[in-house]
Amino acid sequence: MKLATQLVQVGVGRDRETGAISMPIYQTATFRHPGLGQSTGYDYSRSGNPTRQALEESMCSLEGGKRGLAFASGMAAVAAVMQLFRPGDHLLVCDDTYGGTYRLFATLGAANGLKFSLTDLTDLDALTGNITPTTRAIFVETPTNPLMKIIDLEAIIGIAKRYGILVIVDNTFFTSYLQRPLEMGADLVVYSATKYIGGHNDVVAGLVVCGSEELGEKLAFIQNVAGAVPGPLDCWLLLRGLKTLAARLEWAQASALHLARFLDQHPGVKKVYFPGLPGHPGHELCKKQARGFGAMLSFEVKSKEMVAQVLEKLKIISFAESLGGVESLITYPETQTHADVPTEVRRRLGINECLLRLSVGLEDACDLEADLSQALRPW
Ligand SMILES: Cc1ncc(COP(=O)(O)O)c(C=O)c1O
Repeated sequence: MKLATQLVQVGVGRDRETGAISMPIYQTATFRHPGLGQSTGYDYSRSGNPTRQALEESMCSLEGGKRGLAFASGMAAVAAVMQLFRPGDHLLVCDDTYGGTYRLFATLGAANGLKFSLTDLTDLDALTGNITPTTRAIFVETPTNPLMKIIDLEAIIGIAKRYGILVIVDNTFFTSYLQRPLEMGADLVVYSATKYIGGHNDVVAGLVVCGSEELGEKLAFIQNVAGAVPGPLDCWLLLRGLKTLAARLEWAQASALHLARFLDQHPGVKKVYFPGLPGHPGHELCKKQARGFGAMLSFEVKSKEMVAQVLEKLKIISFAESLGGVESLITYPETQTHADVPTEVRRRLGINECLLRLSVGLEDACDLEADLSQALRPW
C-alpha cells in the first residue's frame, strides 16, 4: 500500500466487535479484570489504552519502526528520550533546534549531568570534531527551526554508525510522509504531534518511533514509569489527523512554494528561507532525501519596525505560536519559539529581530498572498 492509503486506513476495523470505521475513544482510566491473575490485556490507561495503542501501532507502521509510543506533548517525548542517557553522557544537538528542546537540554538535562554541544550539523567536519569518547547521540532536526537548514541524514547516520552513537531525528516539520529517517538508518524519530500529525491546532501531543525493539522496550518503560501519556481523546484526534496528512501536506506545500516565490520577489523582504527555492543551500539535498519541501518558511523583513506592523496587520494569518495546522500561523522566533536561546547564540545562527516564521495552512494561496501583501505595504 502507498503511504497515503495507509494513512487514511489508520484505525479502520481495529474494533473487531463492532467493526467501527473510526477507532472508538476508550475514555477509561482502568479496566475490569475477568478474575484473579487475569487481564483483558489492558489494566490501567497509563500503561496501555486501546485508543492510544491504535495510534502507537499506526505510527510505528507508518514510520517503518519497531515500536511507537505516544506522549502528552512533543517536549514530553523529547524528555523521555533524554532519560535514555546517564550523567556524563554527551549529546550533539543541531544548533538551530527548536528553542524548547534547547531549553530542556540546557536546564533539566544539564541539571542531571548531561553534556551537550550545539553543533552546525551542515558542517560534517565540525560534527566529527565535536564527537568525544562520551558522545552518545546526535539530535537532528531537518529542516531546522526556524532557519530551514537541511541536514544530510545519510552522512550524519554514516558518521554516527562509525562511532557507535545514536541518531535521533525530530521529524516534526516533514513527517514520515515526506521524510523517512528510520529507513535511512536513524535510531529514533520524535515528533511534536501537536503539529502536522494532529494538523488542526487543537491538540498538544508527542510521539516517538523506535528503530529497534531494544530502544522500544526502554522507552516503553520510561513512558509507563514517568507517565507523560496523552489521554484517549487526544490519541483519537491524532488518529483522525493522520488520515488527512497526505492531502494536507500536498496542498500546504504547494501553497508554501507559491508564497516563498512571492516573498522572494517582494521589495519589503530581505531574505526567504525555504528549501523549495533553488537558491536555498539545501535545495538539492532536500530533493534527494525528502519527497517535498514542506510547508514551513521563514523570511526577514527589511526592518525591525516592520515586524510589529506585519504581525498587527495580517488578517487571515494568525500571529500565534505553533505550526502544521490547517490555519496559517506566523511566529516571531526572537520573542517566542527561540526566546530561551541566548541572544548571542541566536545572532550567531542568524535568528535576528527581522525574522518571521510562517506555517502555511490550507487557506487559498492567493488569499494568503493578498494578506501578506497588504501587511507588507507600503512596500
Ligand atoms: C520541531 C519541534 N519539536 C518539538 C516541539 C515541542 O512540541 P510540543 O509543543 O508539542 O511540546 C516543537 C514545538 O513547537 C517543535 O516545533
